[in-house]
Amino acid sequence: MFDFPGVILLVALVAGLGFLTTRALKIKLAILKWIAVFFSGLLTLIPAALLVLALVGYANLNRHYDNPAANIQVARTPAQIARGEKLANACTSCHTPENKLPLSGVNFGAKFDFPPMMGALYSPNLTPSGDISDWTDGEVIRAIREGVHKNGRSLLIMPAGNFKNLSDEDVQALVAYLRSQPATGGPTPQSSLSVIGAIFNNLSDFRTAQPPVGRVTAPPAGTPEYGKYLVDVIGCRDCHGSQLQGKIDSQIGPPGGPNLTLIIPQWTEEQFMTFFNSGTMPGGAKVPILTLKSGFSEPRMNWPGVRASTTDDDLKAMYAYLHGLPLVESPVK
Ligand code: HEC
Ligand code: HEC
Repeated sequence: MFDFPGVILLVALVAGLGFLTTRALKIKLAILKWIAVFFSGLLTLIPAALLVLALVGYANLNRHYDNPAANIQVARTPAQIARGEKLANACTSCHTPENKLPLSGVNFGAKFDFPPMMGALYSPNLTPSGDISDWTDGEVIRAIREGVHKNGRSLLIMPAGNFKNLSDEDVQALVAYLRSQPATGGPTPQSSLSVIGAIFNNLSDFRTAQPPVGRVTAPPAGTPEYGKYLVDVIGCRDCHGSQLQGKIDSQIGPPGGPNLTLIIPQWTEEQFMTFFNSGTMPGGAKVPILTLKSGFSEPRMNWPGVRASTTDDDLKAMYAYLHGLPLVESPVK
């Protein structure tokens, strides 16, 4: 990705202001000359610095990752497809307009109020008529767990840092499901950040590429360890903090959620199930609905997405894990 008009505009600004600086050098009156040179020189440095930051940004965004793609063909058994469909509900928020399967792709930037001046971000159509129809199963698995596009660049925003935890069995089930969805819509436009987006990438990296993932097996179902497995895959830590100790709300990125090491040990399993079945907390309060400028609205915490991607037994395992966590003190309640 590269924003030619944006980069050329910056080059033109550097050249124009640089030219003015050389003209200022020709002023006869010494004091006037040095004042003019000082200010025009300073003005030239601003677009010059932005240009350097933009070029560094694009070098990173276009960096080639040579993670190998596994040479594998997923069998697509009915059991795999069913398991994959369950898990795919963890993808609907980003890959569909209305949080509903099939994963037909969406203008992610527009849906989530990403500032348009940063560029375009699309979550691709993952149905058989979409973008990954000519990718091998191994390439799709690499994209999900390692955040690497077929062409070797890093995917942006795509939460590979969570999905790297997916077991071989689960990621193959996902691929089986993706391939069995009804063909819906056509290819999605490519994501591409503007110069502003590329400059911003130096402050907050949009890339999600991970080191190659080897074999992964999930802990036995029904155990607290399996609950931890799901918490890691679904990405509760993105909003509730790396140790689930709560996270302060910030303007950029996912919202901050409360301290689960403080709250869940006080909840019964039934209260936990009620929360994920209806978004109702033990006091009776409901998770507030957040409406974005795009018109899209969903609960501030997407509990319906978590519910749809888990079985009752999965939720009980997550409860067992979270209920047993030692309290991690933090400024967040
Ligand atoms: C937080 C939002 C988010 C979630 C959740 C998410 N994705 Fe993505 N995904 C993206 C974005 C954005 C891209 C495109 C990034 C880019 O073009 O750089 C993407 C790209 C992909 C690609 C590469 C396709 C292509 O044509 O480039 C695959 C495959 C994929 N996602 C699968 C999944 C699956 C499977 C899940 C659920 C298990 C999932 N994603 C969940 C945001 C998300
Ligand atoms: C996208 C961010 C996000 C993710 C991901 C997320 N949460 Fe939350 N969660 C929140 C926010 C924000 C709240 C507070 C909602 C409110 O305003 O009432 C919350 C509230 C909760 C509550 C209610 C606690 C209380 O008393 O307020 C529980 C329980 C919970 N989350 C568990 C989880 C679990 C388990 C996961 C992973 C499966 C998870 N969350 C993933 C953002 C998130």
